[in-house]
Amino acid sequence: MKNDAVIKKRLWISFLIGVVGLGIGIGMKQFSDTEKTAVMIQTNQQNQSNILQGNWKYIDGVERVDAGLKVNPLQRVIVEQDGSVAQTNSPINIAGAHVTDISDGFVINTTIDFLQSNTATIQLYGNLPIIADEFKIDRGSIGITLTKSNLVVKIWKSMSQHPVEVRTFPVKTDQINKLYIEKSHDTYIFVVNGQKVGEVSDHNVFASEKIWFGLDSEDAEWLLRDLRIEKKNGDAVSFADGATVTLQEKNMQSMQKLVLQKRNDFVIGGAMASGALVGDSAFAYVALNDFGSVTPENEMKMVNLQPKRGVYTFAQADGLVHIAKANALTVHGHTLVFGEANPPWLAALPTNTKTEKAVVSKIMQDHIQTVVTHYKNDIFSWDVINEPLADYEEFTLEQPLRAHIWYRAMGESYIITALETAYRANPDAMLFINEYGLEADDERWNAMYALLKRLKPQLEQRGIPVDQVGVGFQSHIYERGDRIDATVLRKHIKQLAELGYKAQISELDVYSADGDTVQADQYVNVLRACLEESNCIAWRVWIIADRYNFWKNDDGHTLQGKDGLYDTSLQPRPARNAIGQYLKQ
Ligand code: XIL
Repeated sequence: MKNDAVIKKRLWISFLIGVVGLGIGIGMKQFSDTEKTAVMIQTNQQNQSNILQGNWKYIDGVERVDAGLKVNPLQRVIVEQDGSVAQTNSPINIAGAHVTDISDGFVINTTIDFLQSNTATIQLYGNLPIIADEFKIDRGSIGITLTKSNLVVKIWKSMSQHPVEVRTFPVKTDQINKLYIEKSHDTYIFVVNGQKVGEVSDHNVFASEKIWFGLDSEDAEWLLRDLRIEKKNGDAVSFADGATVTLQEKNMQSMQKLVLQKRNDFVIGGAMASGALVGDSAFAYVALNDFGSVTPENEMKMVNLQPKRGVYTFAQADGLVHIAKANALTVHGHTLVFGEANPPWLAALPTNTKTEKAVVSKIMQDHIQTVVTHYKNDIFSWDVINEPLADYEEFTLEQPLRAHIWYRAMGESYIITALETAYRANPDAMLFINEYGLEADDERWNAMYALLKRLKPQLEQRGIPVDQVGVGFQSHIYERGDRIDATVLRKHIKQLAELGYKAQISELDVYSADGDTVQADQYVNVLRACLEESNCIAWRVWIIADRYNFWKNDDGHTLQGKDGLYDTSLQPRPARNAIGQYLKQ
């Protein structure tokens, strides 16, 4: 069914026959047999193995300068729901230059200029990590940090959350340092400034035969002057540019194609992460073919877009937007104002005095203004407000709104301020208030409905068209026995229409323990409820494929669910087939 699909990853250097960029420095000679085995083919491509020549536009914190790549410290992290720091989230060149064929080991030569910094980290990934539910799952990587006096090597095996090996070797450094890394069958050898500093055993990190590059700093900026890589036998490696992920055209059976026959304005979307799109062509095929729109799963949350106060990092999110556009998918921005996934510097701000409150209000407005403006030509619908209602445990009729930092600083007025700021930054964008648990008839829906009634005159007063504002029904079905009653959902969508608002299903995923039939019915019924109401403009799912459907339970174990439309092998599950049948009726 899908052999007409062609995922093309164009090689930006395809003429990689022959080769040899033997830019090997002194000192490492005794560790390399390159000279002996390499067949020297004369080539003008002196820099053939120079990966710095590839695409580095889409890695955060990295800036191209004449002398190389400047790496700025971002201290980017992954945070728990309560805001505590869970893990570092070092920038990776996902939608950019990477190596695709290192079969028999490799040799890397780098030149690191400390500039003002005391640390420089290069991370080599065999597979891109998965960022899932407030944690990151590494899938095989090696982190190499050079400090003024040590070389620290950390190895993460596939599916690990912590390194399986950490080694520290004393080294002599200068301002500018040559770092040489050689990987043979089961060992890495490290050489700094001509001195061998140590060996570490291989943990089969590069079984994929690929290498992705991450660059990071802990304290100040440093400069990567050079990064050359070749195979152990001296052959050149091939590079690819992740930004070139393209699907030639959508299959006529794709959900987005089919739905247009029922309603020509309707959008079918899914949450995606750039790692899966770039690193996994089977996933990319399904995601880019079946869906007409992407919701960046985490890449546009504030923790990622403003990791340091006033420092905006759009590169990785831009990479995802670029891939979406190249494949004619629209982007639904997620999310501007949220109580979670905020950077630690924000969480630490006080909101007691008037001045402190004004500071937080200004930060919110600046963030919205900057982000919406940055994507003004690319993103025409935003989750402006995410999860404004208190969680079930905290929810009361007197205090239904979540008491997060934005609320503490501005009270309920943060909502209209945020909507207005987004509207002014892009008057063409659809503005959503996105929330879970609105599908049933209970006090959460009543509270949302009351809020929307209060908001309506405020929108009108400010000249913001009410029909440009909508409610996102997240529609997460997480528990056994949990069901969405499509009749009630539809009634709520109609109530929104009566007030003049739009609606969308924004994050549907359906728990599997009640069986494939129940799951398939839920997916179809929710789609039907939306499709049959003209003010409901999109149906978006959160889990496209179970291959990327992970979460962590309370004791810290990683679990994998079956909530998605596709399974771990990227085959359609019964729910996906049911959607197809329904759309063809
Ligand atoms: C989740 C993502 O899926 C996880 O990968 C992340 O670690 C935490 O957030 N409602 C939302 C989404 O609006 O942003 C949440 O996404 C799921 C619940």
